[in-house]
Amino acid sequence: MNYRTLIVLATGGVCGLALWMSFYSPKVSAQSNGSAPSVPVYNPYPPGILPPDLSSEIARVLREVDFVESRAITRWHNLKPPILTGQPPVLQNTGTEATETLGELMLFDKNISPNKNQACASCHMPYAGFSGPIPSVNLTMIAFPGTVHFRAGKRTAQRHTYAPFFPVLQYNQEQGLFFGGNFWDSRATGYLLRVPDAQQAQGRPVDTQEMGFPDTACVAFRLSHAVYRPLFEEVWGKRLVRYQVPTRD
Ligand code: HEC
Repeated sequence: MNYRTLIVLATGGVCGLALWMSFYSPKVSAQSNGSAPSVPVYNPYPPGILPPDLSSEIARVLREVDFVESRAITRWHNLKPPILTGQPPVLQNTGTEATETLGELMLFDKNISPNKNQACASCHMPYAGFSGPIPSVNLTMIAFPGTVHFRAGKRTAQRHTYAPFFPVLQYNQEQGLFFGGNFWDSRATGYLLRVPDAQQAQGRPVDTQEMGFPDTACVAFRLSHAVYRPLFEEVWGKRLVRYQVPTRD
């Protein structure tokens, strides 16, 4: 057994145990597919906050998510593989389509949540301007439920299409205003990584009110089992890359 296999197995074991524990925690709700109907849903909200059509609406959104995901898989299978060439390396010809398709596959992948019941698109849906796609939630709870039903955040889902372009958080003296950062309150400042979007991206997989994984390694583990893994490796390379975390002196 080589080093890489060992890491995958160890990560899988830790993630599996943590997810098993989270699944059997009394606060975890019945799943929308009805697999554990006797477990009460997490509902600390005042009466009338949880909309009555919540479960059916979540099921509808998941059907849409599945539809887009399978369409993206077909698109990927029909795509002529790009040619890796040059220095610095570029993916020639179909590189852009390959990257876009990978993005779509990941945005609509509900397997990157512990209960396999939540994709990024569950809260960031293109037809809702990349925000929440359930009208009754937008009118009541505002925040969308995460993978654990119905534990929800405190804010409405951001339309995130411009997030990668925001600069590091800064104060403009002339205008007397703050610019940049990610999130409604710009708390992903980007000061350490120099990119706010890279900073915020570390939060979603482990946010208890969103994807809800115990560790970001769990996402890597799930991706290593994704059907589109070959496309991921085509775009990002196959090698196990070890990053040197930048130190501040
Ligand atoms: C349960 C709903 C939910 C899910 C699932 C979710 N998000 Fe979000 N997202 C939010 C909310 C709410 C915010 C704003 C959070 C804040 O400001 O505190 C946000 C903010 C963001 C931002 C920052 C946008 C900006 O302009 O600063 C990005 C980028 C983002 N999400 C991407 C993702 C990705 C990628 C995934 C999947 C891995 C994901 N989100 C899953 C609700 C969600």
